[in-house]
Amino acid sequence: MILRNKKIGFAMTGSFCTLADTLPAMQELVNRGAIVTPIFSYHVYDCDTRFFKALELRQRVEAICGQEVMHTLMQTEPIGPRRLLDMVVVAPCTGNSAAKLALGIIDTPALMAAKSQLRNGGPVVIGISTNDGMGNSAKNIGMLANMKNVYLVPYYQDDIAKKPNSVVADMRLIPEVCELALQGKQYHPILLRRGGDD
Ligand SMILES: Cc1cc2nc3c(=O)[nH]c(=O)nc-3n(C[C@H](O)[C@H](O)[C@H](O)COP(=O)(O)O)c2cc1C
Repeated sequence: MILRNKKIGFAMTGSFCTLADTLPAMQELVNRGAIVTPIFSYHVYDCDTRFFKALELRQRVEAICGQEVMHTLMQTEPIGPRRLLDMVVVAPCTGNSAAKLALGIIDTPALMAAKSQLRNGGPVVIGISTNDGMGNSAKNIGMLANMKNVYLVPYYQDDIAKKPNSVVADMRLIPEVCELALQGKQYHPILLRRGGDD
């Protein structure tokens, strides 16, 4: 019920291998009655990868949300001054976007949406996905965790043998994290042993 009629900006950034795992959460937000506006980083809007053709992803997302993807700074800038959204989700959130958001560097539509929301004192939910989450990105994730109005989707090390620094959020938890974030609370535990296991 908490999500019913809530206006949520869902910003996707270039963790291309995680995009497919994130779509069910987007669908679930819609199922719970949220009005979801999709937002893509420039790379997500432009890049054809082995995981997704850019156009195919856009069509899938627009079918889920029933709205066109926002993909320019001009489209996302009014989110702040016109208070267009109740919450912004950034998922998947790359190490690149996490670093920039932590340091106040705002140069993509996804980051513009998040920054606009923070400027209004509204919640921003981050679903990290980066293979240096235990390395160079760890400090940036820590900075985000410590920022007012930022809430983390619980995450785990997804391949300790081959990619020991890699972390990925359990995107299935996004709806629950959003419900709590709208009440000003962080979902716990933030650190998972494995996706969805605890
Ligand atoms: C196929 C492919 C997969 C990638 N996967 C990831 C990833 O899982 N996590 C990550 O942080 N960056 C990943 N990257 C790198 C980002 O896409 C790159 O840092 C980009 O600048 C991110 O821009 P954005 O955050 O504005 O979308 C990947 C790149 C490619 C081409």
